[in-house]
Formats: sequence, structure tokens, C-alpha cells
Amino acid sequence: MHHGRIDKIAGPLVVATGMTEARMYDVVYVSDYRLIGEIIELKGDRASIQVYEETAGLKPGDPVYETGLPLSVELGPGLLTSIYDGIQRPLDKVREQAGDWIGRGINIPGLDHGKKWGFSPELSPGTSVGGGEVIGSVQETELILHRVMVPPGTAGEVKWVAPAGDYTIDEDVARVKLADGTIRNLTMLQKWPVRKPRPIATKLAPNEPLITGQRVVDAFFPVGKGGTACVPGPFGSGKTVIQHQLAKWADSEIVVYVGCGERGNEMTDVLQEFPELEDPKSGKPLILKTVLVANTSNMPVAAREASVYTGITIAEYFRDMGYSVALMADSTSRWAEAMREMSGRLEEMPGEEGYPAYLGTRIAEFYERAGKVECLGGQGRSGALTVVGAVSPAGGDLSDPVVQATLRVVKVFWSLQANLAYMRHFPAIGWLDSYSLYIRNLRGYYDETLGAGWVKMVTRSMALLQEEANLQEIARLVGAESLSPEDQLVLYTSRSIREDFLHQNAFHPVDTYASIEKQKAMLEVIMHTHDGMGRALKAGVAPRDLFAFALKEKVAGMRYLPEEHISAINELKDLITAELDSMVEKAGL
Ligand SMILES: Nc1ncnc2c1ncn2[C@@H]1O[C@H](COP(=O)(O)OP(=O)(O)OP(=O)(O)O)[C@@H](O)[C@H]1O
Ligand SMILES: [Mg+2]
Repeated sequence: MHHGRIDKIAGPLVVATGMTEARMYDVVYVSDYRLIGEIIELKGDRASIQVYEETAGLKPGDPVYETGLPLSVELGPGLLTSIYDGIQRPLDKVREQAGDWIGRGINIPGLDHGKKWGFSPELSPGTSVGGGEVIGSVQETELILHRVMVPPGTAGEVKWVAPAGDYTIDEDVARVKLADGTIRNLTMLQKWPVRKPRPIATKLAPNEPLITGQRVVDAFFPVGKGGTACVPGPFGSGKTVIQHQLAKWADSEIVVYVGCGERGNEMTDVLQEFPELEDPKSGKPLILKTVLVANTSNMPVAAREASVYTGITIAEYFRDMGYSVALMADSTSRWAEAMREMSGRLEEMPGEEGYPAYLGTRIAEFYERAGKVECLGGQGRSGALTVVGAVSPAGGDLSDPVVQATLRVVKVFWSLQANLAYMRHFPAIGWLDSYSLYIRNLRGYYDETLGAGWVKMVTRSMALLQEEANLQEIARLVGAESLSPEDQLVLYTSRSIREDFLHQNAFHPVDTYASIEKQKAMLEVIMHTHDGMGRALKAGVAPRDLFAFALKEKVAGMRYLPEEHISAINELKDLITAELDSMVEKAGL
């Protein structure tokens, strides 16, 4: 292995000279500790290396070994249920070798190379194949069938396919004769450089919502499958809870959760909680469809930078199989801070608030890896990768460069608000500032599955909340009682939308999730009440009596009714009509 020598060390950055065969983004082993690093700047034979491990004890003159390979992940059966650090080292194996603090120079592959997997062939010799085509499959976990694919860039005639049986990821499962006549052996293992998006056939427009069971998200600010969303918010406003809720409840087939340098104990929660969670649809452990990438704040800063790339590459790989994948990154601010630190050490010209000038480009490139796609070699197979990033700007300030750069690329903005969190209105997603740019694309889906009235009803409810905001100003000045009865009704219904619909307790066993059908039933009851009350006001019922109607409690209790009781929610509409009618009758006497 060719090597250079350390010239200087600055925290996680090491500069080496004599790196004559190195290329940008190559992996190197630093010193005889063999610390893993990546070349992030190259000037002649002088390489700046970000080191993914503690650099204490290194000294000038130590060797730096070139590998000639870019930072890559291993892709194949065994990814699911894994918990990795930022450079795909399995945390449990690292702990076994090194104890709690990640030991240095530990180079453990991402996948188990000794384990045998039951492979079923799906190709026959004689067929010609290209990248992305399915060779066979492995039942990776009870929940997920792993499709073993021809790696991108390989094409030719299939000469041999392994018979059904048990194989390790290093054993051949197929042989392909390439155009130049050479034979390529294919295994179940692919390696892919993390900074390079995996190729697809075509990008498609997201036209189906990711159903999350979170009412404010699904009804008001939905994200399409294959779309992008951003959750910025101040300290303690609920970024992590919402990411966890999505990981648990969203109807994606695969979840990749990247915990990027968040507080140590927060990641510990994830690590302890996730393996115990149940997938609500199958009743099986959620971890069977999940890959976790965990970089706590006590791990070296540079590893955070890699972790989002490791996560998204794994997510793309499952997308290529034709799955709907959701990637959650909490928090991308930690990633950006790692970028800032490395840029500072490289003495690059700083941009806004010390972040590098390329911050926006990096963030855009990351979110552009999301998408609904026709898979490479898919012959109609489509997959989707939805990316949801939390951002934690200091003081919740939305002018923060990371927030701004993210909002320029994502299409959904869930604006977490300190005052809502303070009033314990959760999820603290502000209904006036948040937006989703997918509604138009999703309209066909809604019209078909929920009926043409859905989008109209949602639009009306949002308009009421907007009106409420205007009226509140006036009410503050003149008192709510001096508003017209119609305006008082706007305040009444808006409050009901907020408290009986948007508010949702993640920790309540029933309220934590609402199917889209239940959401529709609930919002219908609220708007049905609104319309009935409008008529009652016209007929002369006093607002005071109206707003104290007896079924109020039932409306407030809808969220706690289990899914099997949606019919009870629907029946509420007739009961409400009857009660309002009797109030009208009394008023007329
Ligand atoms: N949907 C919810 N239902 C009930 N409680 C919630 C909900 N969302 C947030 N909370 C409450 O708010 C607290 C803080 O939430 P969370 O840890 O997600 O904030 P955060 O924005 O990630 O904070 P940090 O900036 O510290 O990472 C939670 O511990 C919980 O008590
Ligand atoms: Mg958090």
C-alpha cells in the first residue's frame, strides 16, 4: 500500500504530504493505529484528511496509507436491524471490541460476511441483464424480501445462476459475460461510494402521500412519497418526537433513521427504544424494517459528516429494490456544524455565520437524492425515497443559514413554534407558517381515495384558522363578546380544529396514530358542526347557548376513539344535527 506522511494535525483534520496516488474523497488509514479518514482537499501531493476517529497521539512523520478507494458502504442482506456508526461500523460489534468508547482503528465491515442467507434465483442462464435487474431474492427479515440486483454499470449475458440454497454475501450467485467477453462473478454484496447518488431509470413526480397518522401532517401539510420535508424548530419544540412518530407510523416499507450528533442521551433513547417498538401494521418488531445510523455527540465531529451520506446510500439501495423508503435525519444542523468545523480547519473562505460557501450546494445535493423513481433495470418497478430532515437553529431563528438552505430545496415546511410547545399544543407545527407544495400533485389521490370533498374541506378549515388569526387581533381590542355571532362562530370552530383535530398526543396509545379515514371522519364532524351552527345562528339561537351544546364533549373525545369506532364518529354528525335542530326549535318558541 502506497503511503505518505503526516505533516500536521489539527483536531479531526490531518494534513499529509507525499500522497502521490491519492484522489479526492479516497479513504486513507492514518498512522499505524489505522484510523479511518477521508481526503477532503488535495493540492498536488498534499492531502487534507478528515479523520473519523480521535486523533490524539498522532505525530508528524506518521505514515498515511492510501487505499485508492472512496468512502463506501456495503450493501446486501443484513442491513436491516443493524445499528451503525457514521461510517457503517456495526455499533454492537464495535462495543464488543472496544467497550463503550469507540476504540480507534477498528475496521469492522458493515455486513456479516460469515452468515448464510437463503437465496432463491429469479433469472435463468441465457438472458441478458443490465444494472439493477433482479438476480434473485433473500427473505432478509420476516417483513422484508431483499432483492439481489445486478450492480449498476454491469451488463451482459447470464451464464450461470446459483441454485436455491444458503450462501454468504461473498459467494457467487451469478456469472455474467460482459460485452468484452470477460466473465464477471456477482455476489449478494455491492459496495457503493456514499457521496455518489445511486443511478435510477427516471424520476417520477410524487403523486401519493406518505401517510403518517399525524393529523396536522396528513391533512394540512402532507409530504409525497419520494418527497422532501424539513422540520426546523427551537430547543424542545418536538423535532425528535415528530421524527420518531414518522419512523414508527409512516406507511413506508423501510425506515432509515440517522441520528446525527444529537445529545448523547437522546440517541441512547433511540437505541434502546427502537429495538422494542412494534410495527403497527404487522405486529412484528419495527427494527425488522429499519436501519439505524447513530452518531452521538461524543463521537468525533467528522463522523457526523459521513453519517447522512451513509444513511442515504443505504436508503437508496432499498429504493432500488422497489420499496418505499423513509429517511429521517435528526438533526442536519449537526451535520452542517461538522462541515463548518472542517471548513474552518481547512482555512476556507467562510460564508454566512462561518459556514462554508458550499453549504447550500451540499444540502441541495443531499435532498436531491430523494425522489419517486422508476428503478434502474426495473422494467416498471418503482421505488420512493422520502427524506425528512430536522434542523435545530440556535434560538429557533429561521434566518439561520442551514434552515434557509434547506427551505430552498425541500417542498414541505413544518414550522415548529416555541409558543405552541410552551402551551403544550403538540405537535407544535404552526398552521399559519407551515406549507406543503405537494397538494396539487396529491389531489388525484385524495379525490380517488377520500372523495372530492376532502381537499375542499381541508382548504376551508385552513381558511378558518387564518380568519381566526385576524379576528384574534380585534377580539383582543374589543373583547370576543362584541364580535358578530358569525365571527364568534369562526373563533369557536377554529378552536375546535386546533384542540380536537390538530392537537395530537404522541404518548397516548390511541391518539398517537389516526388513519386517514379517521382523520376525515373527525374533520367532517367539526365542519358539520360549523355549518349546523351557522344555520342555528341565523335562526336566532344565542351564541352562548350554541357554543355550550351538549355533544361538545363527544367532539373533543373523537381522537381517543380506537380505529374500530370510526362509525361512532360518523354517527356523531346526525346526533349533532338533532341537537342543533332542537335548539333552533326552542329558540323559535
Ligand atoms: N406530539 C407530541 N405529543 C406529546 N408531547 C410532545 C409531542 N411532541 C413533543 N412533545 C413534548 O416535547 C418534548 C420535547 O420534544 P423533542 O425532544 O422532540 O424536542 P426537540 O425539538 O427534538 O428538542 P432538542 O432541540 O432538544 O433536540 C418531549 O419530550 C415531549 O414531552
Ligand atoms: Mg431533538
